[in-house]
Amino acid sequence: MRLSKTVTIKLSTLLYAGIIIVIVADVFIHLVDITDTKKKTDKTPIMSTVHRRDRRHDKATIVCIPGVPCEYTDSVDFRIVLMTFRRATALLKTLQALNELEMGGDTAALEIWIDRDKNNHVDPATLKAAKDFKWSLGHKRVHVQQRHVGIYGQWIDTWRPKGDPNELVLLLEDDITLSPYAYKWLKAARNQFSSRKDILGYTLQSQLINRAIGKGPVFGPSTNPFFLYRLMGSHGFVPKPSVWRQFQDWFHEKRRNRSFKPYVPGILMTKWYRKFEKKGTQDSMWTMWFIYFTNKANLYCVYNNLPTQFHRDDVCLAVHRREAGLHFQGQGLNNSHLLLRTWNKAHVALAKNIAKIEFDGKITIEDVKK
Ligand SMILES: *[C@@H]1O[C@H](CO)[C@@H](O)[C@H](O)[C@H]1NC(C)=O
Ligand SMILES: *[C@@H]1O[C@H](CO)[C@@H](O)[C@H](O)[C@H]1NC(C)=O
Repeated sequence: MRLSKTVTIKLSTLLYAGIIIVIVADVFIHLVDITDTKKKTDKTPIMSTVHRRDRRHDKATIVCIPGVPCEYTDSVDFRIVLMTFRRATALLKTLQALNELEMGGDTAALEIWIDRDKNNHVDPATLKAAKDFKWSLGHKRVHVQQRHVGIYGQWIDTWRPKGDPNELVLLLEDDITLSPYAYKWLKAARNQFSSRKDILGYTLQSQLINRAIGKGPVFGPSTNPFFLYRLMGSHGFVPKPSVWRQFQDWFHEKRRNRSFKPYVPGILMTKWYRKFEKKGTQDSMWTMWFIYFTNKANLYCVYNNLPTQFHRDDVCLAVHRREAGLHFQGQGLNNSHLLLRTWNKAHVALAKNIAKIEFDGKITIEDVKK
């Protein structure tokens, strides 16, 4: 009797337990399922966001992780890293000008990087504009950041130089329009200056170049199509690969030290940066870190001197449209009439000497060593 009762109890318990196990297991499987898919999307390389049609053109898969500078596995002569966030109309203006670039038979790639907002949303109109755009000069990839990375992440981690000295990489924001001759100038500038040890990179900028100490514009002597300035120009910037690598390593290390500040004493940009710090918006000014780094290393940026050399305004290699967004409010400018539209080999004539300009505008003329 006793024995059979225990057996009955045990059997019914087992039955209940069985049912419970099945239910729990089912729920558990679903949970695993959900977390698994979640994990998968989180870890999915950026390439998964690349438009399907474009993926077929990619010979190599590129895996890019936020916070880690992205290395491209393919090789081209000219790569444009175009950074955008949520302004589709602005992006389209920048993109359309890229179809007019004179490449002289050289190869090119276009990497469009779209940041997410602080809630990790991607702007659908910007994504659509990027995906739909047809580029005739090379292959185009659309990268969507896996999480919000801001201006720092967009600038600093979207290209890791792999030591290929022949690749020119242009870091470009979506409020800049390029001249058809931007690449031709960059290539010529690099041919002339890349062997110098005191160069941080090249810029297409020729508008709004101001002294970092004191007032007034910065320009070189009218006899020379180039000049060197102590401050980088961010309106279309090509970093020297070795400098960019060192800067990336240094930045990621320094960034961990909360008490470190990238102040350069006495310059206007430090004042701006400190003002941003008071408002808590210093994460809009990555350039302060680069200015600090290149100042310590005594480096100069190569600029074009075309407006001064030719005494005219409409010879810009890039124009800044001041579109509403993170930096400006209101209507953007249509200043595309200021872009250089005819090429002259005097634009890149071999220099016998070069002007080196300091933060305060002081010019030293240096003979160019042959
Ligand atoms: C962090 O930065 C501060 C200010 O520059 C410096 O004094 C300190 O030594 C740094 N700490 C480390 C661990 O590097
Ligand atoms: C900007 O101005 C040029 C003429 O300088 C014109 O051809 C172009 O359509 C204008 N673009 C926009 C977006 O208004």
